Amino acid sequence: MNRNAFKLLVKNAKQIAVVCNGNQRVLRGAEMSRVEVLEAEGGGGVSIIVDLCGIIVDIDYTSAIEKKYSDASFDRVIDAKGMCVLPGLVDGHTHPVWAGDRVHEFAMKLAGATYMDVHKAGGGIGFTVQHTRSASEEDLFNLLKPRLEGMLHAGTTLAECKSGYGLETATEMKMLKVLDRARKELPIEISSTFCGAHSVPKGMTSEEATADVINKQIPELQTLVQSGEIQVDNIDVFCERGVFDVDQSRRILEAGVKIGLTINFHGDELSSLGSAEMGASLKATAISHLEEISDAGIQAMSEAGCVAVILPTTAYILRLKPPPVRKMIESGVPVALGSDFNPNAFCLSMPLVMHLACVNLRMTMDEALVAATINAAASLGKSMTHGSLEVGKVGDMIIIDAPRWEHLIYQLGNHANLIKHVIKRGDVVR
Ligand code: NIG
Ligand code: FE
Repeated sequence: MNRNAFKLLVKNAKQIAVVCNGNQRVLRGAEMSRVEVLEAEGGGGVSIIVDLCGIIVDIDYTSAIEKKYSDASFDRVIDAKGMCVLPGLVDGHTHPVWAGDRVHEFAMKLAGATYMDVHKAGGGIGFTVQHTRSASEEDLFNLLKPRLEGMLHAGTTLAECKSGYGLETATEMKMLKVLDRARKELPIEISSTFCGAHSVPKGMTSEEATADVINKQIPELQTLVQSGEIQVDNIDVFCERGVFDVDQSRRILEAGVKIGLTINFHGDELSSLGSAEMGASLKATAISHLEEISDAGIQAMSEAGCVAVILPTTAYILRLKPPPVRKMIESGVPVALGSDFNPNAFCLSMPLVMHLACVNLRMTMDEALVAATINAAASLGKSMTHGSLEVGKVGDMIIIDAPRWEHLIYQLGNHANLIKHVIKRGDVVR
């Protein structure tokens, strides 16, 4: 390889918000409140270089970069004068593979129905399951593609994506295959999650559904993974009163761990069941929602280092009590963010999620960016390579047309105008 040839030079930026620069794997407490920013005194500009393999090789003042790379060649040069560079955003929690939207349920909820009212009446997840079971792999892929493109356009370069609208072996595997095709064909990077225990299917008890997941779905998944047909990273369960209880959830998660999956599940959303304590005892990598987490749960997650994936859209749409994020941060729980994109919460935009996190959950803009980058990458076990702009990490970034990075959060709903480029591994994908 020509040591003087590179894939990308982004030059003259006003700021590069690198997020952190000490190879940290996750940021907690007060560390979350200071995003590291490189900015030249006197307005000289800052630059970043990505090599032919898509890895960041240098970040420095433009004057220094010009000297060091005077005889280098670049496949692409972007002049980012007056603009800011940030890491590609990481969405820690999405349900993007499904057929059958639920716009009618939105109207019911606006009129006062709760999530569980709709769920018990056979709507909610049950409605989406019915439509997803009868959709073909091709249909599901065609529905998924524009959603993932929407995420990418809003600055997300890595997203956690779940199955969970099949609730039986064939449809769950179909969804995971669709995700695997997207992983291969689309520029957005996917961390894929098996969520066969997303709900109890019609006609089964939760104990029967637990047995189905452990004895049928997980063995089939293992066969597909071992044959190389699909790649799956995480195991999830909806641990909730009236869905899977703590003991059933624990057994499902343990069965996932046995086949090499990482624990990343829904807990303490609508009721305080002790999901956080159970997850911490299993050393879960991440637990999502946590609107109803107890003080003991916060302590347990902090001690175990479990990442709390907070989903501001859920409390907003369902008008729930927001999760106690300030308490979590002050207790040292690493906090990440996710859009929770699903037919209940149709939101593809992490800039919007960060805005909601600041206004409704009282996070600072620095904390929100940390939560949507390095900490969300940590929730997926990928913070060694993703989530900050550091030499040796993948060249995933966004360029916004604004003089300070905070505009990405401040300009509510304006990300489509603000984001000029999305870059994945040094390739300009938007
Ligand atoms: O994260 N709580 C469970 N799962 C989703 C909702 C999925 C759905 O309603 O389809 C969530 O909010
Ligand atoms: Fe969810």
